[in-house]
Amino acid sequence: MEKIRTLRGFRDIFGEELDKFRRIESVFRKYSGLLGFREVELPVLEKTELFVRSIGDTTDIVEKEMFTFTDVGGDSLTMRPEATAGMVRSYLQEGLYATERMTKVSSIGPMFRHERPQKGRYREFHQIDVEVFGVKEALVDAELIFMIRMILDELGVGRYRIEVNSVGCKTCRESFRRVLIAYFETRKDQLCEDCLRRLERNPLRIFDCKNEQCIRVTGDSPLLFDSLCGECRDHFGLFQGHLRGFGIDVEINKRLVRGLDYYTKTVFEVTSDDLGAQKAFIAGGRYDNLVEEMGGPATAGIGFAIGVERLAMLVPSSVEKDGKRCFLACVGDRAKGYLVPFLKACVAAGITLKYAYDAKSLKAQMRYADNLKCDFVLILGDDEIGKGVITLRNMTDKSQRELPLDPKKAVEELGALA
Ligand code: HAM
Repeated sequence: MEKIRTLRGFRDIFGEELDKFRRIESVFRKYSGLLGFREVELPVLEKTELFVRSIGDTTDIVEKEMFTFTDVGGDSLTMRPEATAGMVRSYLQEGLYATERMTKVSSIGPMFRHERPQKGRYREFHQIDVEVFGVKEALVDAELIFMIRMILDELGVGRYRIEVNSVGCKTCRESFRRVLIAYFETRKDQLCEDCLRRLERNPLRIFDCKNEQCIRVTGDSPLLFDSLCGECRDHFGLFQGHLRGFGIDVEINKRLVRGLDYYTKTVFEVTSDDLGAQKAFIAGGRYDNLVEEMGGPATAGIGFAIGVERLAMLVPSSVEKDGKRCFLACVGDRAKGYLVPFLKACVAAGITLKYAYDAKSLKAQMRYADNLKCDFVLILGDDEIGKGVITLRNMTDKSQRELPLDPKKAVEELGALA
């Protein structure tokens, strides 16, 4: 019969990669705790409208990449393609704006985008998401970069760049829009179909196009960074000053645009050349209008998301060695009666005990212990039971000695070695 496989772009995650995921999460939790973030779990499935309104209906994500379906009740639902929209919904739904001066929240979980799968790009992937609501001061922008720096340092990720830009506010964007339309109008013949549509509806999205010809056209175009309004320019200057305070070097990339419409002022991406085509493994920015646009009071917002799969590719393999491995070989029915007491004693002492459920001959069990690369084997047969002992064999130097048969005492001695 034909075997059933995962969907394209969906993967099983296990072994060393999963170990790295867990290490990333634990280092993240250390720093998110230190910086006052509280973790939340949000639904994977939300109303489609939530993403259309927040991410923007001219973005690639909303236009082409969402897993959207109509449920039996006739509602249009979408598997979340990112976490910020849900975080804003939750912030408003739980009324946090009314009870907290500012809110720092984080969430970890799977996201879904119907993209063409390739190395580092999947249809189901995982993000660690961080959001701060209610702080307009540029200090928090720098604090988030500092948090990223601490996490990457502790994980041993060495080669990466932090690219920052400002995409301004409504005021600077509105005047820049006219400049941009005038520029592209005279180069319409060089733009792809998608960009011609973007020119009508949202010309800034042209910077997001992957088409080579369009990238060439944007190469000489005027840049929003150069026409920021005074307030946005000052905010960016303060952000840079705070970064200096934290001692963090960043690169200003005036061409950095994000694939989501909600950003204002600060945007950033952390990139690595070691990742291949999908260079960005952390990305985020400020979204000072989003909470209001989603029906809440005017509230500043900023956050970022770590792409866990991509970060895991950059995390070096763990140098920590497992504890010693122990095996219990029981020969005969009387000996098998000791398996459970020994297992209980080992678990209580924090020692991993392996054994063969079908305990056959001693030879077969020793071979199994060898395959499992066990460091010590406890051997129990009728002879040992008669003498009131259990034999301990060191698999490295092949030496043997006897321990008391009492599980607690024997495991105590084993614990001193393991
Ligand atoms: P984003 O740039 O769309 O931003 O995604 C953030 C990160 O998620 C990317 O840098 C990448 O590492 C990872 N990622 C995205 N798509 C895929 C994929 N198909 N396969 C593997 N990894 C992927 C956001 O999602 C924003 N919500 C970030 C944010 C939070 N901004 C403010 N707060």
